[in-house]
Amino acid sequence: MSQIFKPSINTIARISLLSGILIAGLGLTMIVLRNWAPLVYVGGNAGIAVEQPIRFSHSLHSGQLNIECVYCHISAEQGAYGGIPDTHTCMSCHSGIATYSELLEPVRTSYATGEPVEWLKVHDLADWVYFNHSVHVQNGFACETCHGRVDQMPQVWQAENMLMSWCLECHREPERFIRPISERYTFGYEEPDNQIELGLQLIEEYHVDNEGLTNCSICHR
Ligand code: HEC
Ligand code: HEC
Ligand code: HEC
Ligand code: HEC
Ligand code: HEC
Repeated sequence: MSQIFKPSINTIARISLLSGILIAGLGLTMIVLRNWAPLVYVGGNAGIAVEQPIRFSHSLHSGQLNIECVYCHISAEQGAYGGIPDTHTCMSCHSGIATYSELLEPVRTSYATGEPVEWLKVHDLADWVYFNHSVHVQNGFACETCHGRVDQMPQVWQAENMLMSWCLECHREPERFIRPISERYTFGYEEPDNQIELGLQLIEEYHVDNEGLTNCSICHR
């Protein structure tokens, strides 16, 4: 009997030894990743999609239908916050389009009752950090640079970790990221070979104030 079982017991022993080593290795990797979070880009809510009360798809509205970001987020160009559109903005189309869609029921209810849709936040910088959209967007910094390919996201997630080190990477060398103003709403932009040269030129041209951008008091006021 024992002779029959022997080979398979050996295999089991080998497998459990191997998986033991694998699990230990995985555990160690996870500890390292947690502690070095800013270095390996798992900070904040990066990469996590949020389950919203309505399945609103950016890849449909902006990717396929080509609706510009600022149709719904005009304050990202004009003000401090990106802002979430109200029900009227949705109904400007959906009073006529997909009017019987079940997915749009909460939009119609909100329109009828005047109760806003309770969208959940995806991005949430600490309150003690000051950020302003318009100063970036109006100087040639694109939605895509900070938010990634939103035009391809069925549900929005935070594309960048938005830790201090991420802000500073650009505040130290904005010439690496700046684009011609006409490209600020472009997705899938390919940066030119002479990005640095062009970048420095655009900084001049747009009067970008790149002095003292790493001073603590700029963001911590
Ligand atoms: C038709 C309206 C509409 C258009 C066009 C649109 N959005 Fe949105 N956006 C929304 C709504 C509604 C939400 C809130 C629900 C969600 O997070 O999906 C949102 C959420 C977001 C968020 C996350 C907000 C948070 O809570 O942190 C970002 C970032 C964003 N949009 C960027 C963009 C960008 C970039 C574009 C252009 C590619 C764009 N949006 C186009 C309606 C729109
Ligand atoms: C500029 C026009 C426009 C605006 C503004 C707009 N949508 Fe749409 N939406 C469309 C079109 C077009 C479709 C595709 C309809 C279809 O497939 O029949 C669509 C589809 C949808 C669908 C999928 C419906 C289904 O049954 O498949 C949802 C959900 C939706 N929109 C939610 C929203 C919300 C929420 C807002 C406001 C934040 C919004 N839309 C703003 C044009 C718009
Ligand atoms: C320089 C980087 C940067 C650029 C460029 C940028 N954003 Fe943002 N965006 C952020 C940060 C950081 C937050 C989080 C702000 C917070 O939580 O207080 C944010 C948050 C948002 C939000 C959530 C609402 C809010 O304000 O908290 C929306 C919507 C949004 N951005 C849309 C856009 C759109 C549309 C564009 C292009 C027109 C754009 N953003 C360009 C960095 C950027
Ligand atoms: C891709 C480049 C880029 C990124 C990323 C970026 N910034 Fe900026 N930011 C700039 C540039 C360039 C300016 C100077 C614009 C000007 O004043 O002409 C600026 C200016 C500012 C200002 C000054 C605004 C004012 O009213 O004077 C604040 C505050 C700021 N950024 C905060 C942040 C924070 C916080 C983050 C990260 C969450 C961030 N920025 C990420 C490029 C960037
Ligand atoms: C370009 C904007 C910007 C500048 C300049 C800046 N910070 Fe920050 N700081 C941030 C952001 C963004 C966070 C992360 C907030 C969060 O977790 O949501 C942060 C977080 C912090 C934290 C909390 C710990 C951490 O790393 O999350 C401390 C402490 C801090 N900053 C100190 C400073 C000091 C000191 C300076 C000047 C040498 C400075 N900051 C300059 C944007 C900035």
